[in-house]
Amino acid sequence: MTGINIISTGSYAPAVAVTNDDMSKVVDTSDEWIKTRTGISVRRMSGGEPTWHMGACASKQAIERANIDPADIGLIITSTITNDFSTPSVSCLIQREIGAVNAACFDLGAACSGFVYALDTARRYLATDDNLKYVLVCAAESLSHITNFEDRSSCVLFGDGAAAVIVERSDKLFAAWTGADGTGAKFLYARTAHNIHPFMPNVPTVIDDETDSGITHNMLVQNGKEVYKFATKALPGAAKNAAAAAGLDIDDIDIFVPHQANIRIIETAAKNLGVSMDKFYVNIDRHGNTSSASIPIAFDEAVTSGAVKRGQKICFVGFGAGLTLGAVIFEY
Ligand code: UT7
Repeated sequence: MTGINIISTGSYAPAVAVTNDDMSKVVDTSDEWIKTRTGISVRRMSGGEPTWHMGACASKQAIERANIDPADIGLIITSTITNDFSTPSVSCLIQREIGAVNAACFDLGAACSGFVYALDTARRYLATDDNLKYVLVCAAESLSHITNFEDRSSCVLFGDGAAAVIVERSDKLFAAWTGADGTGAKFLYARTAHNIHPFMPNVPTVIDDETDSGITHNMLVQNGKEVYKFATKALPGAAKNAAAAAGLDIDDIDIFVPHQANIRIIETAAKNLGVSMDKFYVNIDRHGNTSSASIPIAFDEAVTSGAVKRGQKICFVGFGAGLTLGAVIFEY
């Protein structure tokens, strides 16, 4: 099967750092609760810069490190659930900033699993279009735009950021497994703001009769316990399915880069997989949960710090709203 080579990585973290003590001035919480229940110490938040700007900064860094001509990028895929506009896409705005004049552009919405879905999609394009040289795969999220800062059980979790990779076709190992369970949509969602038109007889706001509390704003609503239960099965399940698709044992994987949602979820997944935590790259303490940007931000850190080396077998594994889940395994 045609694989991919990740030529380079880039990332962008907004300058505004919000500590747990800062959060405790906004809601009834404490540094101790947040650290022990989630592993988060600080998260970055947009100081006003839009999602597309963060994505463009990360993409520029990846392009510089790859040392390629942006005109050779044939496709830009951005994973996001926090586009600044319903249209145009974040990808089109990134294209404008980086001068990738020959790129097709679209965004992909698979929530926190989005980067895994996007990388798999990029590989499929590269496998079927010989004219495509480079794909820019980006994830950019401003969760602070949709965070409910009156809900202490969710607002302490999220942060903003972006990351990008430049990929090309390669014979190196690549395997993916992606899935979803739409019946869990009610456990984690944010509405889009929309018009109520004058001919609308009823206002359809209800996602689920049992759990919907009539909230009509566009902020994130989460049933933390249900998502937690899903996550602790989704992470090991998706990783095992991708390993089977790659013809590998879980022990063959050198480094796991999981979605950074909660350190306890990652630890439980590691235990269920029978893998030492040493093999899991974790940066949740410094970024919180940045949705689909969390895996590529962590990967960029792992690459630049030397925690990940060329030739190693890497597993990206994520889960999120939808509910969605997925994993890719590749040789770096
Ligand atoms: O990418 C999106 C994916 N989302 C996730 O992965 C989230 C998955 N879920 C979780 O990570 C956890 O369920 C949470 C971190 C959201 C919550 O942790 P928990 O251990 O499940 O806490 P809980 O909901 O059982 O709440 C325990 C207690 C409650 O108080 P009582 O009822 O025992 O008195 C909550 O009211 O903790 C209270 N609580 C808080 N206390 C201080 C909830 N949030 C906070 C808070 N600070 N921020």
